[in-house]
Amino acid sequence: MSYKRTEISKEQVARQLAVCEEIKRELAAGSRAMVDTYGCQQNEEDSEKLRGYLAAMGYEMTDNEHEADVIVINTCAVREHAEQRVFGNLGALTHTKKENPNQMIAVCGCMVKQEHIVEKIKKSYPLVSLVFGPDELWRFPELLQRAREGKKRVYAPGEGDGCVAEGVPHLRDGKVKAWLSVMNGCNNFCSYCIVPYTRDRERSRRADDIIAEARELVAQGYKEIMLLGQNVNSYGKDLDEGVSFAELIRRINALEGDFVIRFMTSHPKDATPELFSAMAECEKCEKHLHLPLQSGSDRILKLMNRRYDAEKYLSQVEAVRSCIPDIVLTTDIIVGYPGETDEDFAATMRLAEKVRFDAMFTFIYSKREGTPAAKMEDPFTREQKQQHFDALLELQNRISEEKHREYIGKTVRVLIDGRDREEGVLTARTLGGRLVRISGDERLIGSFAETRIVDCNTWALRGELI
Ligand code: 5AD
Ligand code: SF4
Repeated sequence: MSYKRTEISKEQVARQLAVCEEIKRELAAGSRAMVDTYGCQQNEEDSEKLRGYLAAMGYEMTDNEHEADVIVINTCAVREHAEQRVFGNLGALTHTKKENPNQMIAVCGCMVKQEHIVEKIKKSYPLVSLVFGPDELWRFPELLQRAREGKKRVYAPGEGDGCVAEGVPHLRDGKVKAWLSVMNGCNNFCSYCIVPYTRDRERSRRADDIIAEARELVAQGYKEIMLLGQNVNSYGKDLDEGVSFAELIRRINALEGDFVIRFMTSHPKDATPELFSAMAECEKCEKHLHLPLQSGSDRILKLMNRRYDAEKYLSQVEAVRSCIPDIVLTTDIIVGYPGETDEDFAATMRLAEKVRFDAMFTFIYSKREGTPAAKMEDPFTREQKQQHFDALLELQNRISEEKHREYIGKTVRVLIDGRDREEGVLTARTLGGRLVRISGDERLIGSFAETRIVDCNTWALRGELI
């Protein structure tokens, strides 16, 4: 497996910030930019960097495509549905571009790493002026400048350089929760997954850079830091620093301040007892583990190249539960993997029943060109897959509600993170990540509180402030 890590120097990032200054000098007052994000938290975090750069160029942010002078669409390639939505939205932008012919439209993110997508944009979407891949994000100002100046459209999908850039400014959305990317890329090559092809190989940020960013976030008043990586358990393995992910959690936990730490995602084959003890011992670490199962059938797990079987998965669940009895466990499951039979699916149902996850994210398999699974026979119909999907959802809804009922009468600590305007209540999360709705004053947003749980449904708990 080829492995590449390209460290972008502080000077290179400083040059990008100088380009931002140049653009700012030329920019008409009141110019606006919009960033539209699809997909995972990693993409959301990338969008914060895009906004950081755009703000440094002097753009004000908007989410109205009619008034935006620059629109950046940060795309996701994990499932076909997200790709279709991007093309649908690009089609709709023909109208806004007619209203404002100087509107600059850029497409970036994981979709751009697929040649056929870039070809399609070149051929069928002349309104797009700039296309750049995830590895090129650190030089977005320079690319945008070229697109603004030139008569030619700019294409920079990237060469798989495995870039690591420090010092790119962020413009974060909220004031309570912050994403902090600790690594990028994936080495696992699960047969169905496009990510290793779009995000390149794993590369970790240096521990000192991560800790410095965490310290700054705490100083800015953020209450929850979500550490992000495709497989955080691999953190540090590509560096010579000797800092594992568990050690990283311990170091962030040691920072002064009133905040909590969460993380995503852990691969079941790599989660270690060391990680579970760090989670148990670090008082700031939320007791939540997202451990994607994908399938409960050993045959399908093998075809998926997941490198664990149902027994190994269960032993991980036992290990974390013996260390942290009240751990909140969530998972991802793919239904309808090529060739998945009723029997295979029954094994997934059995495992879901056995583990009793707190929540589950279920996806119907989506064929991704270029992955090994795309070449496999897929004899089952969409209807058959949908039936399995519905059955799993029904099972999980029952379990989620039963697990929620166990909270009733208990007092839990929550972080109040926002307001649900429709329902007129505050929204909060338990320290295991369960959604709680509470009546209370908007000024409480951003604070921790003790709440008594009085009611629930499948999706949320209902709490009263103490
Ligand atoms: N089809 C359906 N779901 C997928 N995922 C990843 N690739 C695919 C695909 N081709 C799901 C996995 C992963 C989650 C982020 O997305 O369950 O854990
Ligand atoms: Fe995709 Fe597997 Fe990597 Fe997750 S671990 S990003 S599912 S290849």
